[in-house]
Amino acid sequence: MKSSLLSCGVLLSSALLLSLPVHSQSLYERLGGEAGMLAITNAFIEEISFDAMVYPYFRTSDIGRFQAKFSEQLCVAVNGPCEYTGDSMLLVHRGMGIDEAAFNRTVELLQAAMTREGVHHTDQNRILKQFAPMRADIIHQ
Ligand code: HEM
Repeated sequence: MKSSLLSCGVLLSSALLLSLPVHSQSLYERLGGEAGMLAITNAFIEEISFDAMVYPYFRTSDIGRFQAKFSEQLCVAVNGPCEYTGDSMLLVHRGMGIDEAAFNRTVELLQAAMTREGVHHTDQNRILKQFAPMRADIIHQ
């Protein structure tokens, strides 16, 4: 009797938890917080490393630094409790000769990474919307 009451309580509280609207969680929390930022960033790095168009840009880069800074930037983009401590997008990408095709391909790789990490399409679009204004500082610099 005692154990069935207990399991009833457990069921009830799980049902209550499940019925909480998704919106009561922030986007940052929904993506898994700091670990989620890193998981998306790592999937993105993996996508880049297999891509013949984008990988050459990163051949001599410090990937550990990219991982840390991109992860921070992603966190800021989803209103997480972070501060971006990297360099400006203009400074970082200047002189790389990035054109539209390479930019668009990089966005596709980020989308593939987010899909792999189970990020809902609506949330993907929210994130890409935050990055969109950076395009002008990255292309043809
Ligand atoms: C919206 C799109 C993009 C965002 C948000 C972004 C963001 C970043 C960030 C946060 C860093 C690290 C900054 C730092 O070290 O202080 C970085 C570095 C870098 N990005 Fe981007 N990036 C974008 C597009 C691109 C594209 C299209 C390319 C090339 C096709 C590219 C190539 C690189 C490379 C090679 C580095 C490493 C630089 C180094 O070795 O010092 N990025 N990017």
